[in-house]
Amino acid sequence: MGAYADFHRRSIEDREAFWAEEAQRIHWHRPFDSVLDFRRPPFAKWFVGGEINLCFNAIDRHLAARGDQPALVYISSETDTQRSYSYRELHREVNVMAAVIAAQGVGRGDRVLLYMPMIPEAVFAMLACARLGAIHSVVFGGFAAASCASRIDDAKPKLLVTADAGLRGGRAIHYKPLVDEALRLAQHPPQKVLIVDRGIDTTMQRIPGRDVDYATEAEKHAGAQVPVVWLEASEPSYILYTSGTTGKPKGVQRDTGGYAVALASSMQHLYAGKPGETMFTTSDVGWVVGHSYIVYGPLIHGMTTILYEGLPIRPDAGIWWKIVQEHKVTVMFSSPTAARVLKKQDPAWLKKYDLSSLRHLFLAGEPLDEPTHRWLHDAIGKPVIDHYWQTETGWPILSLAPGIEPATVKYGSPGFPVYGYDLKLLREADASEAAAGEKGVLTIAPPLPPGCMSTVWGDDGRFVSTYFRTFPKLQLYSTFDWGVRDADGYTFILGRTDDVINVAGHRIGTREIEEAVQAHPNIAEVAVVGVADAVKGQMPLAFAVVKDASTLQDTAGIERTEREVMAAVDRNLGAIARPRRVLFVTLLPKTRSGKLLRRSLQALAEGRDPGDLTTIEDPAALEQISNVLRT
Ligand code: PRX
Repeated sequence: MGAYADFHRRSIEDREAFWAEEAQRIHWHRPFDSVLDFRRPPFAKWFVGGEINLCFNAIDRHLAARGDQPALVYISSETDTQRSYSYRELHREVNVMAAVIAAQGVGRGDRVLLYMPMIPEAVFAMLACARLGAIHSVVFGGFAAASCASRIDDAKPKLLVTADAGLRGGRAIHYKPLVDEALRLAQHPPQKVLIVDRGIDTTMQRIPGRDVDYATEAEKHAGAQVPVVWLEASEPSYILYTSGTTGKPKGVQRDTGGYAVALASSMQHLYAGKPGETMFTTSDVGWVVGHSYIVYGPLIHGMTTILYEGLPIRPDAGIWWKIVQEHKVTVMFSSPTAARVLKKQDPAWLKKYDLSSLRHLFLAGEPLDEPTHRWLHDAIGKPVIDHYWQTETGWPILSLAPGIEPATVKYGSPGFPVYGYDLKLLREADASEAAAGEKGVLTIAPPLPPGCMSTVWGDDGRFVSTYFRTFPKLQLYSTFDWGVRDADGYTFILGRTDDVINVAGHRIGTREIEEAVQAHPNIAEVAVVGVADAVKGQMPLAFAVVKDASTLQDTAGIERTEREVMAAVDRNLGAIARPRRVLFVTLLPKTRSGKLLRRSLQALAEGRDPGDLTTIEDPAALEQISNVLRT
């Protein structure tokens, strides 16, 4: 048996001793009394009684040894700027931000909603909340006002931190009007809005008494030293909303101690990074990958982290590789969509820069197709490691572990169960274990390892009923992903079991898109499915029934209505969820009991066989769908 297999086995069979050792990688203000409290399954509490602070572990702890080492390097190809902060400078910035946030009345356990572009202040604000024991909830900057409002109402933040604008492909996206609209829509708007003014939106309006200017406040608090607030290990560090089957996003609640241990451990064993080296993760702070591997993971591990604002192909398709060369990046983390975008560019870009510092390139967030995996591996001449995880878990579920054993990559597979995860691949019909080569539902036997979600924010019942009810008799966590294991133990992910789709690595519930489409006054009914897309992996496609068909009498009317529906999605959810097409029909395919036949719809849209149709209410519906798809 290989070194990794042994390592994994020990993590399951000797769970507490294993994690007690891993927990030594971080600083505890007060040692924990017990490793695991699993008296109330499926809820797991890790490192009970231990006192810890994420900000201290990410910054203060390194000051003595690495005060002058770069901690955060901000590179924006949008504004053509680069700014580097040493650990000492980051410490100073975060203290000022913490003082400013505290002055708005924020303390331990209070929520702070961040709606931020990829600028250093976003990282300062996250770390400042951690310092104060406040709970941040970062909302991805691509979400619309209404999405932001529903997250505000769930998290009930005391403060919202934003900027005047974000930039994408040279275009400014004004955040402030969006935030104003979100606060207008929200039932529980925060009292204060802290604004980082980048000077991009010169017309920005401020609401006196509510809006606070960051630069002005920072000046008042220059040189502030804010003591860290020590939290008990299971107190929440953050909430991050993610999509599921219903239209209402779930607030994934993360603990503090377990998360710090899981991240520190993964930096060593999975990402094989070394303190003092540089990690470059191309995600966004609004997603879980940004939380774990732009902000907390690399800093806890004493690495330099790169915060990149911009596209992978601007000013040219060599920009990321130039960053790797200039900053001697050893660990890089990106997404399959980015890889597919780069694959379409001139291959010369990949040869232009010296990538010799790079040890591994990790990809995650969506399925990595075998041809892209192979191409990238050949193009950069370094192991490309596909690894699989979820917002809920906070760190990888399936991966190779080059920190323990050299990586033997199998194209198209994210590898083996990560240590700490007791994975089971079960047959859907009877929950028995699937054989090699047989498709099953990927589940995790609790306790979930450290770092994974502790509950749904404010709704323990929803945590249990959502994640632990796929196989009613067994209390197993469902990933809602299909998987298959080959004879060598490599797992391949075959897509979601539920109605969640993955657009360019952005996880979106089709139900949420349907609700956004229905905001258009002329839509009676709609079905949204994900269809395969060569670059983005999947794209939403909408089939809609209108109330007043007279608007669809000519091509101009159809096109206008389609545009309006797309605009409704942009406005209510965000442009990332905009359907590729909106196709109008008079009937949607349903079962006799009224259930939408989504799988059949999706199959037809992808040119596949629609499957079993014995339960369909009216076969004419499918005929109509086939016809619109043909035209
Ligand atoms: O369906 C799986 C897919 O993305 C989902 C989780 O998305 P999110 O919560 O945004 O977290 C992303 C964290 C990296 C999963 O349920 N997914 C993620 N990674 C992979 C993947 N599908 C196939 N291969 C992967 N490597």
